[in-house]
Amino acid sequence: MKITKICCIGAGYVGGPTMAVIAQKCPHIQVTVVDLNAERIAAWNDEDLNNIPIYEPGLDAIVGEARGRNLFFSTEVEKAIDEAQIIFISVNTPTKTYGKGKGMAADLKYIELCARQIAKIAKDDKIVVEKSTLPVRTAEAIKSILDNTGNGVQFQILSNPEFLAEGTAVQDLLNPDRILIGGDTTAEGQEAIQTLVDVYANWVPVDKILTTNVWSSELSKLTANAFLAQRISSINAMSELCEKTGADVNEVARAIGMDSRIGPKFLKASVGFGGSCFQKDILNLVYIAKSYGLNEVADYWEQVIIMNDHQKRRFSSNIVQTLYNTVSDKKITFLGWAFKKDTNDTRESAAIYVADDLINENAKIAVYDPKVSRKKILADLDYLESRKAENNANAILSFEDPYEACKEAHAIAVLTEWDEFAQYDWQRIYDSMQKPAFVFDGRNVLEGAVLEKIGFIYQGIGS
Ligand code: NAD
Ligand code: UDX
Repeated sequence: MKITKICCIGAGYVGGPTMAVIAQKCPHIQVTVVDLNAERIAAWNDEDLNNIPIYEPGLDAIVGEARGRNLFFSTEVEKAIDEAQIIFISVNTPTKTYGKGKGMAADLKYIELCARQIAKIAKDDKIVVEKSTLPVRTAEAIKSILDNTGNGVQFQILSNPEFLAEGTAVQDLLNPDRILIGGDTTAEGQEAIQTLVDVYANWVPVDKILTTNVWSSELSKLTANAFLAQRISSINAMSELCEKTGADVNEVARAIGMDSRIGPKFLKASVGFGGSCFQKDILNLVYIAKSYGLNEVADYWEQVIIMNDHQKRRFSSNIVQTLYNTVSDKKITFLGWAFKKDTNDTRESAAIYVADDLINENAKIAVYDPKVSRKKILADLDYLESRKAENNANAILSFEDPYEACKEAHAIAVLTEWDEFAQYDWQRIYDSMQKPAFVFDGRNVLEGAVLEKIGFIYQGIGS
């Protein structure tokens, strides 16, 4: 099939950047990204590219090049579905907050709504692509809805999970380690797979495009995230042991990473992983395993989350303990609120949980993050429902200038590894702080020895 029109439902962190890159690389295909959220679509259409809703290095240039040419952002969901030959579903699949599987299973209500809408609108055959991360066998449910509520047209369902990481989304999309496409083993299924392979082959070498059956593709996404998160929890577990024994976790990571079977990536000890994916996807995996009665499998993966929660809590407890067992009314400055550098995304950021613990101890938290607004910080804390919104607002001071944020603080905690933090004038910061001046480096990004020479009491992770 010759593809001329693609639609993507969901203009979020995945749908937006992914479709922008497809549009840039396939000028012969019209790509329309639709969303129910009119404010988000308006931001994608903002003339000033600084105002597009997602901060990713390099994304503004790509949107600037393709938007209005063959890349469109719209709220007209039905029109875009009607016209497209391929429809990507890239809506959110958060952890359920109600009913059966609450706190564990993925909430598929947005996926089901998309399937029903596609079924209602489609008047010709369509390829429907699962871009969202979904529990294994979701394609079966989508197919059942499409076939039972549709207009008698044929649907092929493909699984094409996204492996981009935020902060490096554009590079990951332009130069992916692999593209994974799962489809039906029937001739029609294979034809649909080939159609999508041809889209990616516009810029991805074909030997990096992997095709599998649908279930392998769906499960590979959860597996990849589980393995990645497991490496972080493993090194974080070792960081605690390092602190007790005089070993240095950075040295240990380097030593094991040189074993080519282990490899050097994803071994950075930290205050704990955040982001919208790892926790949600592992909880989902645990839930799926349990639902098949595989309790040992479930317990094995759940430990990755338990370790991560421990790492976040241990960081906040250590701050309280080190500051003479009280942080009441003390100003503690957070450098960074985003879950990692080079993104404005804060979902599940360790900073939220560390702040929540410290506010429980009556601390005043001063936050500086180059890309996160006060409104977002307060929304993140309010979402936890630990206390009234006004109490969160009273506990959080936010700053546009890092030096102002650090003034008069008893301690600084580094929660995100933004590059600029290492470049600051740390002598100036030291001079403006309460003494003794503490630095808790949750990302091991500062030069501990240099800070100690200035006079700081410095604590990194795992040394
Ligand atoms: P997001 O919340 O940023 O975006 C989802 C968008 O879908 C929202 O703007 C929402 O308004 C829209 N939406 C929901 N229901 C809709 C409907 N019925 N019609 C039209 N629009 C609708 O989410 P995201 O971070 O882009 O993640 C999307 C999916 O991709 C999730 O399944 C996630 O697990 C997966 N994923 C995310 C990442 C990541 O780094 N964020 C990476 C890989 C995979
Ligand atoms: C992750 C996966 O990497 C990506 O493939 C998938 O598509 C979505 O989920 P993302 O969450 O955007 O991507 O970022 P990632 O780089 O994986 O970082 C996740 C968290 O782990 C961040 O909080 C990061 O700071 C932390 N991390 C990462 C560590 O603490 N140590 C590391 O060594 C690596």
